Amino acid sequence: MKTRWYKNAVVYQIYPFSFMDSDNDGWGDINGIISKLDYIQELGATAIWFSPLYKSPDYDYGYDVSDYKAIDEKFGTMEDFDRLLAECHKRDLKVIMDMVINHTSTEHPWFKEAIASPDSPYRDYYIIRKGRTKEGKILPPSNWESTFTGSAWERIGDSEDFYLHLFCREQADLNWENPKVRNEIIDILNFWLDKGVDGFRFDVFNMFSKVYPIRDDDSKDSFQKGAPYYVDGPRMHEFLKELNEKSFSLYDIFTVGESFHPSAEDARKYVRESSGELDAIFSFGHLDSDNIGGKKFFPKPFDLLQFKKGFFDPQRAAYGEGWNTLVLENHDNPRCVNRFSIDVRNYRYEAATMLATVMYMGYGTPFIYMGQEVGLTNCDFKNIDEMKDPVSHFVYELMEGYGMPKWLVFRFIRYGARDHSRVPIAWDDSVNGGFNKGHTPWQCVNPLYTEINVKKDLESTRSVYRFYQKLLRMRKKHEVAVWGETREYDHENRRIIAYSRTNRDKQLFVCANFSKHTTSYKLPDDVKKYKIILNNYEMLGRNGQKVRLRPYQAVVLRF
Ligand code: GLC
Repeated sequence: MKTRWYKNAVVYQIYPFSFMDSDNDGWGDINGIISKLDYIQELGATAIWFSPLYKSPDYDYGYDVSDYKAIDEKFGTMEDFDRLLAECHKRDLKVIMDMVINHTSTEHPWFKEAIASPDSPYRDYYIIRKGRTKEGKILPPSNWESTFTGSAWERIGDSEDFYLHLFCREQADLNWENPKVRNEIIDILNFWLDKGVDGFRFDVFNMFSKVYPIRDDDSKDSFQKGAPYYVDGPRMHEFLKELNEKSFSLYDIFTVGESFHPSAEDARKYVRESSGELDAIFSFGHLDSDNIGGKKFFPKPFDLLQFKKGFFDPQRAAYGEGWNTLVLENHDNPRCVNRFSIDVRNYRYEAATMLATVMYMGYGTPFIYMGQEVGLTNCDFKNIDEMKDPVSHFVYELMEGYGMPKWLVFRFIRYGARDHSRVPIAWDDSVNGGFNKGHTPWQCVNPLYTEINVKKDLESTRSVYRFYQKLLRMRKKHEVAVWGETREYDHENRRIIAYSRTNRDKQLFVCANFSKHTTSYKLPDDVKKYKIILNNYEMLGRNGQKVRLRPYQAVVLRF
């Protein structure tokens, strides 16, 4: 029976490489995670999503899986994982596994078999096509681009064949048309579910189905060349229904999909309860409000109206039909306090708590990325060599290739790099920020760790963590914060974001100042008598229907 427990859940995301290194070898590990479970539970989280823990050669740091049923050695063993699962469950923390099944690592045995012989049955596990010959040269089968720059096709040795990879060349796309592939995947999902895990986060799920036969993308306005042929493909809904029927529906779990620029109509279908597909998807529209055209590395001044649209649209679409997620950060994005044109130097605490209030009072399940709960900031990288993410390097090379000066290229990369959120967590001001006992970590520690770390935050009278605790407790106490319908107010206001949540006779009103200037705001007429139930400042300036919101001030009113 499906209890839909996820609707009341608060999910904490761990990127295992960088959480806690218990054996001082430079890599975060499962035993390190176990040592911090109380910290996560006390925050108010009720579930943990683990970025991949599976065996991987780490070309894309865990998102290139070479064995879906094995834990990578650097993180520990399967026994360690079983203990982690038990320790989580002991604390009423559900466990959500990352499932990266759009592609496998090119070191996966299936892929190795597939390329070893043209007659191998594994050939049809992947998307392999003959190249096109032009003026004596062998060219890729189509003009599709990889999300990580360059052609999405890689030639197999000196044969005429190419395989498709929508990400790194070491991540080969699976052929979901092949029923054997789907059966393998269902077997993998049920392997973890039988162990007792409570759900999955599906990596770039809306790329599973492609349009065949493969053809060039001639449209001028594609987000990425080929995208119309591999995003929200024709069999997407059918594939999800099959997974649901043969796996998800047999267990009481939560499934959430990471979608790549989905169409509004498909997004709605994926999460509609009556569709029997996924429980929720991530919508990242609001996170594109400070970049150009959804391209992370290209800055633009923050556009609050775009943020509002990206934040409210998915809530409206999901309300009453399906479910939604609430996200400020993850392992693919810089830290939220460094975004949205925020003055982080002067208002880190205010901005961190304002963003949390705005986001997590919305309709959907809150997702909190490790370190966000203490307001960790971007890493003060000095040069590209300090960055590990392949994407930072691909984009760097690409821009440099266009003749841009190195310092400018680095500025762009620093703006959008995924590396910021992937550096080891600064737990305290000891060596390596307390991530381990001194072994050089796989990725540099943020040099700001002596100033900004978990211990310091917990000891501060202005602790972001304590504010999160309060906020999450409040969400738990006021059911309307979970179930209420969201209604936006004053969309055109470029400094203030405001909305209500309504459930029968219970009503909440959230308003926040997204700027560093004190700003007056006239409360809507129906919010006359109210009680302040959350405020990230000690006071709220009031004058009749008007409130004066200080820089990045956010309040929740019950009325
Ligand atoms: C998703 C992951 C990202 C990864 C990519 C390819 O977007 O979140 O980290 O690089 O898929 O698997």
